[in-house]
Amino acid sequence: MAYGFLDIAATPGVRAAQQANGRGDYWAAFKGDRPSDRFTEAETAFIAERDSFYMATVSESGWPYVQHRGGPSGFIRVLDNRTLGVADFRGNRQYISAGNLASEGRAALILMDYPNRRRLKIYAHVETKDLAADPELAARLTLPGYRAKVERSLIMHLAAFDWNCPQHITQRFSEAELAPALAPLRSRLEALESENKALRALLAATGD
Ligand SMILES: Cc1cc2nc3c(=O)[nH]c(=O)nc-3n(C[C@H](O)[C@H](O)[C@H](O)COP(=O)(O)O)c2cc1C
Repeated sequence: MAYGFLDIAATPGVRAAQQANGRGDYWAAFKGDRPSDRFTEAETAFIAERDSFYMATVSESGWPYVQHRGGPSGFIRVLDNRTLGVADFRGNRQYISAGNLASEGRAALILMDYPNRRRLKIYAHVETKDLAADPELAARLTLPGYRAKVERSLIMHLAAFDWNCPQHITQRFSEAELAPALAPLRSRLEALESENKALRALLAATGD
């Protein structure tokens, strides 16, 4: 039996916390296999639609560090069912994540889908690659027309993933996600405005 994500997460301290909080039976209660070391179609489709993610790295002093990475929808490429690739853009030039990853490649990611209230957690070993030295990889990660300076690529080797429950995720929608719902309202508003204008003109012309 394996529950990949928890096999990694459940350190002795975590198990002690489960025990202390009345969930010491967590492992005994878990039946069957929950393999999470290969992305299935569900994770692949979910990842392909994301336009951002949060990534936690580990500093040499033991501090966790969380940063946001974003780009056009689909900028996280599923290179195969165990590997993700991302073009890492120039930001504030602090290079905290890059520096952390150079000494400790383990990272935790969280990918949010606010409209559908879903989130995916991922443990990965992250490898930093110079895209100039790998044109084939560069072609796979390149985002045509996106204005950002690519400094490196992050190749993420999946250790385990897990889905979270939707509880406490407030629905939020991006401008692009709202556009199809707003389009008919906008045209209806325009039609009513022109009708209103025509009626006002008619009213003025009849002198009432
Ligand atoms: C001009 C510019 C300024 C930024 N300033 C900040 C900032 O003050 N704090 C922050 O958390 N992110 C800031 N960002 C976003 C980060 O630079 C971006 O998330 C980057 O990937 C950070 O990577 P790092 O934290 O791993 O070094 C800025 C981005 C740009 C382009």
